[in-house]
Amino acid sequence: MGKVLVTGGAGYIGSHTVIQLAHAGLEVAVLDNLSNSSRGVIARLEELTGKTIQFIHADVRDRDALRAVFSENAYEAVIHFAGLKAVSESQNEPLKYFDNNVSGSIVLFEEMMNADISKLIFSSSATVYGDPGCVCYAETTPLKPINVYGQTKLMVEDILRDIKWANPQWQIALLRYFNPVGAHESGRIGESPFGTPNNLMPFISQVAVGKREKLMVYGNDYPTPDGTGLRDYIHVDDLAAGHLAALNALSKDNSLITVNLGTGKPNSVLEMISAFEKASGVTIPYEIIGRRSGDLPEYYADAHLAKKILNWEAKLGIDRMCADTWRWQKNNPNGYCDQ
Ligand code: NAD
Ligand code: UFG
Repeated sequence: MGKVLVTGGAGYIGSHTVIQLAHAGLEVAVLDNLSNSSRGVIARLEELTGKTIQFIHADVRDRDALRAVFSENAYEAVIHFAGLKAVSESQNEPLKYFDNNVSGSIVLFEEMMNADISKLIFSSSATVYGDPGCVCYAETTPLKPINVYGQTKLMVEDILRDIKWANPQWQIALLRYFNPVGAHESGRIGESPFGTPNNLMPFISQVAVGKREKLMVYGNDYPTPDGTGLRDYIHVDDLAAGHLAALNALSKDNSLITVNLGTGKPNSVLEMISAFEKASGVTIPYEIIGRRSGDLPEYYADAHLAKKILNWEAKLGIDRMCADTWRWQKNNPNGYCDQ
């Protein structure tokens, strides 16, 4: 395998994936507009991998920039993480999401085609399932997203299914992530959201480090064992390993791969708080407030297909997810912002 271009590679999941690609001996380039990440990530990736990581500060919607990148470098594959991911923002600013996530992807795919690059991994999401009326999502579960963000992910999946149909030589993997959490074991890279975190784990860790007073728990009246929401939390390093497994599978299998990347085991909000307290030794003050609009009580992955076709399964449990998040947060209370 030659060189891999990672769009959005300065972001949370992309950066962890870059480390594993580099450790596997691949040459990696990162293309990112830094709209939700920091330049300092690249230096840390170089420190952790001992390799030079080419960084291209560009937007995937910038056709001229992509054309220049593809004409100057021979990439064998693209891993496409670049995109916006905040559900509530997507509801308020739908055009921003369609432009960034869908139009950006179209420009990228067109320029890949012009450059004869036909191996692609796309970051999809469990959000594509929407509210299908069951709690364990298999890849065959109907796709009915209930927010704009999920809609953009389904649209890109549909575009890629059509590209594959028209261009059978394309090798495509659609990876549907469940809830990525955790950080690299070194404590040098992790999730560093700008502003107030939308998601549970970064919020808990910012409370633990003293940046926020308390966690708001969105509802304890769900029909779940402790009344709080259940999700399938997956360690970001397991998720990153799933991308390497998908790259390997694409080299052997010419069909379009669509798989869930989750653990198959749901945990509640209260279980995550308690695991974090155990890992950090810090008490997390919290207050139960009303349900958050758009949240489902419970869902998790049917993770069997990934095991079967990628020979991949998640290995790390919530204790490790919390320990690694805490190491990262404690050592970098302001994320990459101090750099
Ligand atoms: P992230 O925001 O940390 O990373 C995304 C990166 O893409 C950022 O570095 C950002 O600067 C960059 N980017 C955004 N728009 C761009 C553009 N137009 N051109 C170039 N770069 C651009 O998010 P993440 O959590 O690492 O997510 C990576 C991907 O996985 C996203 O596509 C996201 O939708 C998807 N995903 C994330 C989750 C999650 O909960 N984190 C779950 C399912 C799917
Ligand atoms: N929660 C709280 N308090 C918070 C944040 C979250 O109680 O401050 C609860 C939520 O109600 C939910 C659980 O913690 O029960 C997880 O919430 P997250 O916001 O961490 O994650 P979501 O499951 O809502 O959504 C995430 C990403 C989506 C992605 C989806 C994939 O935000 O982008 O996982 O399954 F699509």
